[in-house]
Amino acid sequence: MIRIPIRLGDRSYSVSVGLGLVDSLPSLLDAFKGRPIVVVSNLRVWSLHGESVGKALGLLGRYTRLLIRDGEVHKSPATVERLHTGFLDAGLTRDGLVVAFGGGVVGDVAGFAAATYMRGVALVHLPTTLLAMVDSSIGGKVGVNHPKAKNLIGAFHQPRAVLVDPSFLTTLPPRELQGGLYEVLKCAVIGDRRLFRSLAHLPTPLNPPADLVGLIEAACRLKAHVVETDERELGFRRVLNLGHTVGHALEAVTLFRRFTHGEAVGWGLLAAISIARDRKLLKENDFASIATAVERIGPRPGLFGVDPERVLEAVQRDKKKRDGRVSFVLPTAVGRVVTRSDVSKEEVRGALRSLASWVSRPLPGGRGAGPSGRGAGSRPRRRRSTGARR
Ligand SMILES: NC(=O)c1ccc[n+]([C@@H]2O[C@H](COP(=O)([O-])OP(=O)(O)OC[C@H]3O[C@@H](n4cnc5c(N)ncnc54)[C@H](O)[C@@H]3O)[C@@H](O)[C@H]2O)c1
Ligand SMILES: [Zn+2]
Repeated sequence: MIRIPIRLGDRSYSVSVGLGLVDSLPSLLDAFKGRPIVVVSNLRVWSLHGESVGKALGLLGRYTRLLIRDGEVHKSPATVERLHTGFLDAGLTRDGLVVAFGGGVVGDVAGFAAATYMRGVALVHLPTTLLAMVDSSIGGKVGVNHPKAKNLIGAFHQPRAVLVDPSFLTTLPPRELQGGLYEVLKCAVIGDRRLFRSLAHLPTPLNPPADLVGLIEAACRLKAHVVETDERELGFRRVLNLGHTVGHALEAVTLFRRFTHGEAVGWGLLAAISIARDRKLLKENDFASIATAVERIGPRPGLFGVDPERVLEAVQRDKKKRDGRVSFVLPTAVGRVVTRSDVSKEEVRGALRSLASWVSRPLPGGRGAGPSGRGAGSRPRRRRSTGARR
């Protein structure tokens, strides 16, 4: 097991990563022994992995299990209210603990319920998706969706610990795994050349969790560093938005049905490197190696029927705008990015045009299809929501 510290003064904690870490839960959570504990999960995750977690928590005393419904639509104020009622019925007091056991949806909603119950109770994340392990459980952002905008209602509530056991990934559907890999690649492009090289050598087919432990550790380190530097996203933390400006726009114009979040980020990464190359910020060979890395994770549903002008409009509505300007994170090399808020509509149009031509231009050596065929536009996704994702 490795421990990655996140130094935030009196809100410091660490991310522990290890195969089979669940067995060490009793010692890792020893401080909460005998105190009220509530574990929040969903039926799917609990039925797959609840037994080992329940057994471990049982060694700390009596705990209460609250299951929420699966899916992004349940990341809502209504679920928070239900959780608060459950906390109250369970006798959760201010010295108690909420354990969020699931993907990013469970983490965000249980985290927000913990942040707001009695003005904040302790929270521990036990993530079960790759995305939650490397991204959503670290950094203290918690929240729920408003019917008119995603992640509109939220708070910063740092957890007491993030406990990552990659063994949970053995049951994760391949498409969810792939979605998380795009976020790992994003981390590599932002600031970790070594991680980038490891991604280039990922075996096919992938054998989770063994093949993923090193990648997870590296991606967690990157996120930890960014969060330590800028806890409240006043500036630097925005680098994590790489690939998300166009990615969010693509999700919105396809009504959150065509792409997983990670797949949209994959396209968004390609858009970012196109803009960076056209501005001569990124050399051709770095462009090619990042593009190849995106394609290796693929295939992604294609962009057919997506109107570039609507994507452009959605980009202009980006919720992370500052002073009325959309900012883009642009790679200048593998492992280095800059943020620019002067990217013109014409540049974005140019990038979208290059994405459209991508469909017929598979890259050499990639395991993704560069999909003129494979996966293009197939498998509609059932995610009903509005606005932008993180
Ligand atoms: N707080 C943040 O900083 C932050 C950052 C990024 C994303 N997010 C949020 O995270 C959410 C997306 O998270 P996600 O991608 O984990 O989706 P998710 O939580 O919806 O999980 C995806 C699916 O996988 C299932 N699942 C979870 N673990 C499993 C396992 N081990 N085996 C089999 N199935 C499993 C879930 O039940 C669900 O059906 C979004 O709401 C997004 O806004 C938050
Ligand atoms: Zn993301």
